[in-house]
Amino acid sequence: MENNFDVIVIGGGPGGYVCAIRAAQLGLKTACVESRGTLGGTCLNVGCIPSKSLLNLSENFHKAKKDFNNQGIEIDGIKLNIEKMMSNKDKSVQVLTKGVEFLFKKNKVTYIKGKGVLFSNNDVTVYNNNDKNNFKTKNIVLATGSTVTSLPGIDINEKNIISSTGALSLNKVPKKLAVIGGGYIGLEMGSVWARLGSEVTVIEYLDHITPGMDREVSNEFKKILIKQGIKFKMNSKVNSLKDNSNSVTISYTDIKNSKDEKLEVDKVLVAVGRKPYTEGLNLTKIGVKKDSKGRIEVNENLQTSIKNIYAIGDVIKGPMLAHKAEEEGIAVAEILAGQAGHVNYDVIPGVIYTSPEVATVGKTEEQLKKLNKSYKVGKFPFLANSRAKVNNETEGFVKILADSTTDKVLGVHIIGPHCGDMIAEMALAMEFGASSEDIARTCHAHPTHTEAIKEAALAVDKRPIHF
Ligand code: NAI
Repeated sequence: MENNFDVIVIGGGPGGYVCAIRAAQLGLKTACVESRGTLGGTCLNVGCIPSKSLLNLSENFHKAKKDFNNQGIEIDGIKLNIEKMMSNKDKSVQVLTKGVEFLFKKNKVTYIKGKGVLFSNNDVTVYNNNDKNNFKTKNIVLATGSTVTSLPGIDINEKNIISSTGALSLNKVPKKLAVIGGGYIGLEMGSVWARLGSEVTVIEYLDHITPGMDREVSNEFKKILIKQGIKFKMNSKVNSLKDNSNSVTISYTDIKNSKDEKLEVDKVLVAVGRKPYTEGLNLTKIGVKKDSKGRIEVNENLQTSIKNIYAIGDVIKGPMLAHKAEEEGIAVAEILAGQAGHVNYDVIPGVIYTSPEVATVGKTEEQLKKLNKSYKVGKFPFLANSRAKVNNETEGFVKILADSTTDKVLGVHIIGPHCGDMIAEMALAMEFGASSEDIARTCHAHPTHTEAIKEAALAVDKRPIHF
């Protein structure tokens, strides 16, 4: 195997593998080191991809059970075969991780299996079982991602107290499932198991779910989830979990009333966030600086405190999102190739793949208020969108925030059917510096859900047609 590289990327997740492919495309001799045994990182192996598979399959099951009969599709004896469902999910994961391996071959990226350790800013040693290989490189990109975090004194044993990884491979539907944390993971995985039959209770520390999201959307989201049968215990601080082997007792405090409570469930999913993963890289010795949250510090070029070492994705600041990591990976590859790599952090969409989906890009109303920015709001409900109506998917709305003076779109927040795909139009519009008038004057196909975007843009100027 080649031992000298222009760039060695450590970590083969969406940030790392995309960076490696782009670097190789640009003519750099590139290697990517990955210890998991398969490429694709958390996202492909135990994150975005398997969760989206289960979200899709569980939604199909739920619809078939609850809605089909009313829609004139009569099927008797709908049954869940969880083993088959899980194997379907596993196949999707396998195809995609193998796909990345194929892309490496196609682009001539050297795939080095094992755990990478930095011995200097030009030397990487890779350990794989009893094998040890040394590599020389001009540049290093750290893309080692993040790992599950827990609460003090709570041991995630992946039996009855599980992380997102465990929640993706349960072999039985828990009768009662508690989810600690009303964020992305908690609500997506909570939805999956609720649809498959679990009684789901979300325990959230704050008085609202999905912190950081536009509050109006977050409130609507919670209302819809409650209608779907998910229970919420807000303002609740979990103190301890006791695994009784066939159940778990949760002790928590209702902060508002200072009242200690207990809840007994079959399984507990701990989803209180993730932390950067930099263990064993030898960063302190090399002089790569981290901040107080354990994130690798980088400048605007994603360069660490050591000039030829870069870092991208979940190990640095910013939202822990696969597509943010990908953009950073591409930017670093282009910078290394002498181009002007750049990430526009103002336009990073975020999507929660529940039903309905929630999608957002740009500033929230709360952020604009904090910035003392004067803005206009245009809103349009899916109840008034013909496509949503014929599909019986009328929950939610589109909300566009535009600058009061210039009309430039500052943020778009959607809760509603297929908005995870629809948000791309808004990200593109914002990248091009569009005004709400630009969107309002763009012809949108009829009948589509995207007409709700056009109408919300019209509503910014108080002239929607269908509402
Ligand atoms: P999160 O940060 O989205 O949510 C964690 C939630 O836990 C917050 O609501 C927080 O207030 C709550 N919490 C924290 N401490 C608590 C405590 N002691 N008791 C009760 N509640 C507590 O983190 P999550 O859901 O674990 O996701 C981790 C990362 O993965 C996020 O950055 C997210 O963006 C990413 N992710 C993205 C997805 C997507 O793009 N669809 C899907 C899944 C994860």
